Formats: sequence, C-alpha cells, structure tokens
Amino acid sequence: MVNSHLFTFLALLFLVLSPMSNAMKVLPKFQYYDTLKSYHVDKIYEVGDSTSDTGNLIRESPMGSLSPFARLPYGETFFKNATGRCLNGLLMIDFIALSAGLPLIKPYKETGANFTHGVNFVVAGSTALPLETLAANNILSPVTSSSLDVQLDWMHSYFNSTCTNQTDCAENNGNSLFMVGEIGGNDYNYALFEGKSIQELEDMVPQIVGTIANAVRRE
Ligand SMILES: *[C@@H]1O[C@H](CO)[C@@H](O)[C@H](O)[C@H]1NC(C)=O
Ligand SMILES: *[C@@H]1O[C@H](CO)[C@@H](O)[C@H](O)[C@H]1NC(C)=O
Ligand SMILES: *[C@@H]1O[C@H](CO)[C@@H](O)[C@H](O)[C@H]1NC(C)=O
Ligand SMILES: *[C@@H]1O[C@H](CO)[C@@H](O)[C@H](O)[C@H]1NC(C)=O
Repeated sequence: MVNSHLFTFLALLFLVLSPMSNAMKVLPKFQYYDTLKSYHVDKIYEVGDSTSDTGNLIRESPMGSLSPFARLPYGETFFKNATGRCLNGLLMIDFIALSAGLPLIKPYKETGANFTHGVNFVVAGSTALPLETLAANNILSPVTSSSLDVQLDWMHSYFNSTCTNQTDCAENNGNSLFMVGEIGGNDYNYALFEGKSIQELEDMVPQIVGTIANAVRRE
C-alpha cells in the first residue's frame, strides 16, 4: 500500500520520536521539523484511507464513532485522547504539515475546525472504486461509503464554497500541497476477505489504478 521508502521514512521518524514520547505535551520537534519550509507550502489537502485519516471516520457515522479508533489506547501518547487516527502516534500528513511549519491539518468532518492551512478529506476504510463499481463485482465495502469519488466531491464543494471564481481559487491554492492516497488497498482487502481469488484481484488492478489516476487528474 505504501512504498518501502515511505515506510523507511516513517520508521526513522518514529525512532527519532520514541525517546521523547512520554514528555510529549506539545507538538514534537523531530529531525525533519520545518525542513520543508523553503517550499512555502501553506495549505495541505488530502484524500485517502486509514493511513491518513485524522478524524473523519469517527465523525461521519455512528458506526465510525463506535470504531476502536474513537477510543484509547489510540492517541494516548501524543494527543492524550483518541483523535480518529488509526494509530497511537502521528501520520504522514502530520509529519509533512509539521515539516512545512504548519499546524496539523483538521479533518473535514470536524465541526467548526480551522481550515486556514488545508483540509483532510481522508476516510479510514475507504476504497478507490465507488461502491456501485465494487457492488457490480459482488464486493461490499463494509466500513464507509466515502470512497475516493465522494472525498473528491467534498473537496470540490469545499472549494466551491470558499472561492468565488477560478482565478480566486487558483490564487488561494497557489502554494497548496495535494496528496492522493494511499488509497486502493482496501479494494483488494475487501475482495480477499469476501472470498475472491488472486486472479479476480489481479483483474481489478487496471480499474483501481485507472480510478486513482483519474482522481489525480481531477484534482
Ligand atoms: C476525546 O476524544 C473523543 C473522541 O474523539 C471526543 O469526543 C472528546 O471530546 C475528546 N476529549 C477531549 C478532552 O478532547
Ligand atoms: C485559524 O488559523 C489561522 C492560522 O493558524 C489563524 O491565523 C486564525 O486566526 C484562525 N482562525 C480562527 C477563527 O481561529
Ligand atoms: C457552487 O456554488 C454555487 C453557489 O453557492 C451553487 O449554486 C452551485 O450549485 C455549486 N456547485 C457545486 C458543484 O457544488
Ligand atoms: C474573482 O474573485 C475575486 C475575489 O472575490 C475578485 O476580486 C475578482 O475580481 C474575481 N475575478 C473574476 C474574473 O470574476
């Protein structure tokens, strides 16, 4: 799902962070803190799945609010509370925001959140393919219906509501970082859990890859 370089990057970050984790009352200073500042990124937007959800799944549905990610021990080390992140610590989008000298990017579903520096549209458990496409292949998406196309719709209506015209929008987002994914892993997970063969999974690859590529173009 995530390539090996990213895993190495994260593993290194966690190694750097681990000695300080008990005293983590404020945002952590880590090796790459502010190192992206020279790129002048001032907004981050992301779509994806559990590798980057900062709190949408637990807010979007009763089922999400009952998920383990809405409860300790998730979040106990850094946030002293569950945030909806599907891990105890920080996610890639968090490290990237901190590296860019920005505050952590809030989830779209957080009421009244400050989106000055971007929005996280990611939903844990989501798929790259729309639910209807999965259903046509007899695959059920059991966690959320907010697949990639839904997250992109949210993004578009967000921009529609925040900028008056295209020039305005382009200007507002001139220094924005758009992150697509990781997404698509759950399409294969659900297919496997629901008894599809490896051959059937392989047959899904072009459609999933095509959907993600189109999402990048649409963004
Ligand atoms: C802790 O997290 C839960 C679930 O995300 C939230 O409802 C609650 O308001 C949070 N509590 C504090 C003190 O932030
Ligand atoms: C939102 O955040 C920005 C930048 O962090 C800050 O300047 C602004 O005052 C905040 N807005 C509100 C309403 O808190
Ligand atoms: C964009 O906003 C306008 C005015 O608020 C609204 O009429 C229109 O339906 C919106 N378009 C989309 C795609 O959300
Ligand atoms: C776009 O919106 C901005 C901000 O409201 C405004 O200043 C500008 O004149 C508009 N441009 C066009 C082409 O409508």
